[in-house]
Formats: sequence, structure tokens, C-alpha cells
Amino acid sequence: MSKDSVTIIDNLSGRQIELPLKRGTHGPAAIDIGRFYRELGYFTYDPGFLSTASCQSKLTFIDGDKGILLYGGYPIEQLAEKSSFLEVAYLMLYGKLPAPEQLNNFKKIITHHSMLNESLKSFFRGFYHDAHPMAIMVGVVGSLSAFYHDSTDINNPQHREIAAHRMIAKMTSIAAASYKHSIGEPQVYPDNSLSYTGNLLNMMFSVPCEEYHVDPVAEKALDLIFILHIDHEQNASTSTVRLAGSSGANPFACIASGIAALWGPAHGGANEAVLNMLKEIGDIKNIPSYIARAKDKQDPFRLMGFGHRVYKNYDPRARIIRKMCHEVLEKLGADNDPLFELALRLEEIALNDDYFIERKLYPNVDFYSGLIYKALGIPSNMFTVMFAIARTVGWVAQWMEMIAEKDQRIGRPRQLYVGPAQRDYVPIDQR
Ligand code: SDX
Repeated sequence: MSKDSVTIIDNLSGRQIELPLKRGTHGPAAIDIGRFYRELGYFTYDPGFLSTASCQSKLTFIDGDKGILLYGGYPIEQLAEKSSFLEVAYLMLYGKLPAPEQLNNFKKIITHHSMLNESLKSFFRGFYHDAHPMAIMVGVVGSLSAFYHDSTDINNPQHREIAAHRMIAKMTSIAAASYKHSIGEPQVYPDNSLSYTGNLLNMMFSVPCEEYHVDPVAEKALDLIFILHIDHEQNASTSTVRLAGSSGANPFACIASGIAALWGPAHGGANEAVLNMLKEIGDIKNIPSYIARAKDKQDPFRLMGFGHRVYKNYDPRARIIRKMCHEVLEKLGADNDPLFELALRLEEIALNDDYFIERKLYPNVDFYSGLIYKALGIPSNMFTVMFAIARTVGWVAQWMEMIAEKDQRIGRPRQLYVGPAQRDYVPIDQR
């Protein structure tokens, strides 16, 4: 019996099998259950995948108990302090930090892929004026495969790389165009002289009738927030991208499926939901009643921006954003935002409440990010769009990693059937 295995005994039949353990660089080992059904005749059952690894990956590591997040082995705190969004994007795509020339070249490539095909303009006009920008993003990103036939051969590494570059670059232009459509203003073309986030701010907030100057505080704040949102192991939207990609779907369709999954309030939609929740709470005196609602099993209300499937400690990204909130709001002259005070007080009360302590519910990345977006003048219906722009790096990196796996196969989970036993059809005149 090997030390690197577990033995499963079926008490019903007395059969036993030895299953190998797969060990990673960090984190718990995984039991390889590939033979489980074939040899024991049972499925494993883990809805929500609380204990199930769907793949192996070199990209990101989270230790939820210790509140650790590594991108390519580098702690998020160091990358947040010393790196930039496009440098971390390079790390995620190529597995190493770029040399100066490599970074400059990567920036040039991304910059020169940011324009959209002119015929896409009419696509935006087809949406109703009050369409949610995330609805527009899902539609427009999914349509990109109609424009880029030259980079949808997923078995061609060059095609995969071009598609990845195009996605990272064009998400800013599509996001800005979605925003402009929702406020009835003309789309703004990318400006290749600007940084990634400077270009996004310019495309969102400049108007033809006057000069627009990118605020360096906003540019840097957005770059930092984007680093924090780049990737996060096999979260719901990333798992959706991988599952879509496992069927051989083109990369643009896969990213569109990730955008759709991210939109849910339990996932990336939480940042918008947090701001709506803070506005609904309105005043510090109302906090106790909302905390009570969050604890009441009969009430569907949950404290948005709190809790996490993996983090059972403070989300390290939330810690960084919380600190940044003070600095950015002060620099932008928004530090008297009553919602920020309300968020700090709500956090303090929740973190001292037994219900949250027992369940290890801490603020997550979405709890504070919306307050910074609001201070940057970004409307709440664009908060999840911001998340999607940054997470596109993680989605494309995870998609490229999956496609390049030597034994990559279609993802097709099994189920526990609890429906009616087999029965015969009853003609309608006998029912
Ligand atoms: C993101 O996966 C990722 O990595 C996601 C993400 C990423 O970068 O990709 O980190 C981004 O999506 C962050 C999460 C944003 N969502 C929210 O802030 C929405 C509010 N949070 C909850 O919906 C919830 O905490 C989840 C969805 C985040 C996690 O859900 P789980 O792991 O399924 O937790 P659970 O529902 O099993 O909760 C365990 C207990 C339950 O109580 P009991 O049944 O044990 O009595 O904690 C309670 C839950 O009712 N609980 C909450 C709560 N979150 C969990 N109670 C009140 N308020 C909450 N927010």
C-alpha cells in the first residue's frame, strides 16, 4: 500500500480500492478519483464543488485559512505594491515577470489591439438605451468571433495568443462603448498614447466638446484594483470559461460565458449589490436590523460583500482595497462619502457578531471596490464590467492553460438522479 494513496472500502460489498494522491506545490493533496466509478460503481457527490478540484493549474494559489493569494507564486501584496496590471497580465499569460523590453513590447501589442471593428458600432446602437452594460458586454464579446476568423483555431498556439491579446485589449473599448451607449454619448476611440487604465478612463469620460485629462490618481487606483481582480483559481466564472472551452468553443464565446457567470450577485455582481445595499441601509442606526436580516434563515437577504467559499479569513484583496479606499477617497476629495463611513461601521459590527465569527464571514474583494469606483465617477451598473475587464486576463490565461493540457477532454459532470422511476406513457384519454 503506497504512502501516496488512500484506500476506499465499500462496506456494502466489502470491495476496496487504492486511489493515488496528487500533490501540488502548495495546498492540500487531491485524491485522483478517475477510476472510482469504473472500479466501485459509485459517483462522488459534491454540488458546489466544496471539496472537488476540477483541474490542476500553475496560475493562482489561494490559502483561504491564512488569507494568502499568489499569482504565479508572487504574493498579491507585493504585486499590488510594486507591479502594474499589464505586467501581471504578462505574468499570467507567460508564467514569468517580463524583462523591460518584453513588457514594452507587450504593452504595444495590447495598445494596438484596442480598436473595435467599425461595424460593431451599429451593434451597440441595437441595444435599448437603458440596457445594463453587462448585458451589452455579453452580447458584444460573444459576437467577436464573427469578426476574427483568423484567430479561432484553438489548436494553433499563435491563434490562441492573438485571441488572448485581442480580448484583453478590446474589453476596455467594449466596456467604454457600453457605458457611452447607456448615457447617450458618442463612443470615444482608444488613444494609443495613454496607459491601459488611462485609455479606459478617457474612452469612458472624455467628450468631443472639451479637453479631458486623465487623473493620475484615478489611473493608478484603477490599475491597482484591476491587479487584484485578475484571477482567482477556479471561481464560478473561470470554471464556466473552462467548461465552455473544453468543448472546443471559440475563445470569444468562452469569455462571453464567463461574463455571464460573473454577473450574478453571488459572484462578480456583488460589488454593485454592495453599493445598492449600503444605499438601502442608508444610516448607521439601521445597521442592526440589516445584520439581523442577514442572520435570519427565513430572509433571503445576505450581507453583500461578505463571506467567501474559500477565504475563511480576511480576503487579502479586501485588506488592500480597504486601505486604498482611505487614500483614494481622500485624494479625490470624496473621503466624506457617508457610504464609506457606513461600510466601515457595518464591517466593524459584523466582524464582532458571533454569527459572522462562527461562520468565518469576512469582507471580500467586492465589499470596498464599489466605493472606489463610485469615487472615480463610475456608475454602479458599470462596477461588474470593471471586474470583467480585469478578470479577462485570468479567464484567457486559464483557457490557454486548459487548451494546452496534453490530456484535455470535454468537461461532463455526472449526477445523482432523484426523478421518477421508469414508467410507461399514459394516453391522454386515460389520465
Ligand atoms: C466573488 O470564488 C471566488 O473566488 C469569487 C471571487 C473571485 O475573485 O472570483 O472571490 C469574487 O465572487 C466574491 C464573493 C462575492 N459575493 C458576495 O459578496 C455575496 C454575499 N456572499 C454570499 O452569497 C456567500 O458568502 C458566497 C456566495 C460568497 C459564498 O457562499 P458559500 O461558500 O456557498 O457559503 P454558504 O452559502 O455555504 O455560507 C455558509 C454559511 C451559511 O449559513 P449556515 O447555513 O451555515 O447557517 O454562511 C452564511 C450562509 O447562510 N453566509 C452568509 C453570507 N455568506 C454566507 N450569511 C449572511 N451574509 C452573507 N454574505
